[in-house]
Amino acid sequence: NAAEKGGYEHFMLKEMYEQPKAVSDTLNPKHDPHIVDGKIVLNELGMTDEEILKIKKIYIVACGSAYHTGVTGKYVFEGMARIPVEVDLASEFRYRNPILDEGTLVIIISQSGETADSLAALREAKARGIKTLGIVNVVGSSIAREADNVMYTWAGPEIAVATTKAYSTQLIALYLLAMRFSQIRKTVSEEEMEVMIQDLKRLPDQIELLLANKEKIQKFANRYLAAKDVFFIGRGVDFAISLEGSLKLKEISYIHSEAYAAGELKHGTISLIEEGTLVAAVLTQEDLYKKMISNIVEVRTRGAFVMAVTNEGNIEVEKASDYVVYIPQTNSYFTNSLAIIPLQLFSYYVSLGKGCDVDKPRNLAKSVTVE
Ligand code: G6P
Repeated sequence: NAAEKGGYEHFMLKEMYEQPKAVSDTLNPKHDPHIVDGKIVLNELGMTDEEILKIKKIYIVACGSAYHTGVTGKYVFEGMARIPVEVDLASEFRYRNPILDEGTLVIIISQSGETADSLAALREAKARGIKTLGIVNVVGSSIAREADNVMYTWAGPEIAVATTKAYSTQLIALYLLAMRFSQIRKTVSEEEMEVMIQDLKRLPDQIELLLANKEKIQKFANRYLAAKDVFFIGRGVDFAISLEGSLKLKEISYIHSEAYAAGELKHGTISLIEEGTLVAAVLTQEDLYKKMISNIVEVRTRGAFVMAVTNEGNIEVEKASDYVVYIPQTNSYFTNSLAIIPLQLFSYYVSLGKGCDVDKPRNLAKSVTVE
């Protein structure tokens, strides 16, 4: 009812607006602060430094949007902590007899902690004697109870089927974990760590700032209600967020969309670009910036209309694209947390404009507890 939605038209909008708090609570839970004296402390994790030093490989296993945060996690863990990471869909992992050697850590990410495939993947890893870590939002859920170690996200209850705040807190949990592992494995200098911590702390306010842009995004979204196909492109962590941006749009607006690693465009999607096709390009990675600009030029030459999400200061993007949303400066590992906000708002307003059931899209469930 209206009271539960706290004055917002939909749970999804309310939950998007709860993101600054959810992110801040996950960064630094009051009962167990994670940032102490310029260091990342994860007491709840219950893993010793020795255990963390022994990790040779990480599997991140999840479903849906949680899987997408895992894709981000791969880039962050490998880049920062220099540990090889494989990301897997739980429904694939559980049936393919994965190679689980000593020194492997299996991380299961799940908002509900009850997703059948994710729970089965956890049980499979445990049965094979492999250490498991759950990143879970619901305290006391099956995955939280059964995993050897748990790290909680503090998004609070999420009602809308399309996840927003839980997704955002999962990203934070992964950053914290990767930073903690990097600290112990000494793959990041103390100075770099300090800068990263400062950047982390700024995220809630920066998210707030991006949410304040909603009218502009609504206006833009209203032009795309009749779109048939939308493509999301990015490189590095921007590819990971393209997957999530695309899922958000298609699940609640029923517009077909696809995410592509921008370098793969010419091996597929580019043949589908026609006059007026919307392409959402995310370019927050400075080292990949020029490559992304050429990808944008490629699709635009073929008639695409380009919406770009990029860092403040990248004014060159204005020339190359048709509509630009700027995100404030942050560490290159953390840009997903900011770039997702305009993409969530865009999906929400397309769905709203089309008159879809935003909070309860057809055929989808919030939590899939059967196979
Ligand atoms: C369902 C939801 C998705 C969610 C996925 C995994 O399909 O609709 O939004 O990402 O399950 O859920 P979990 O609770 O494991 O994160």
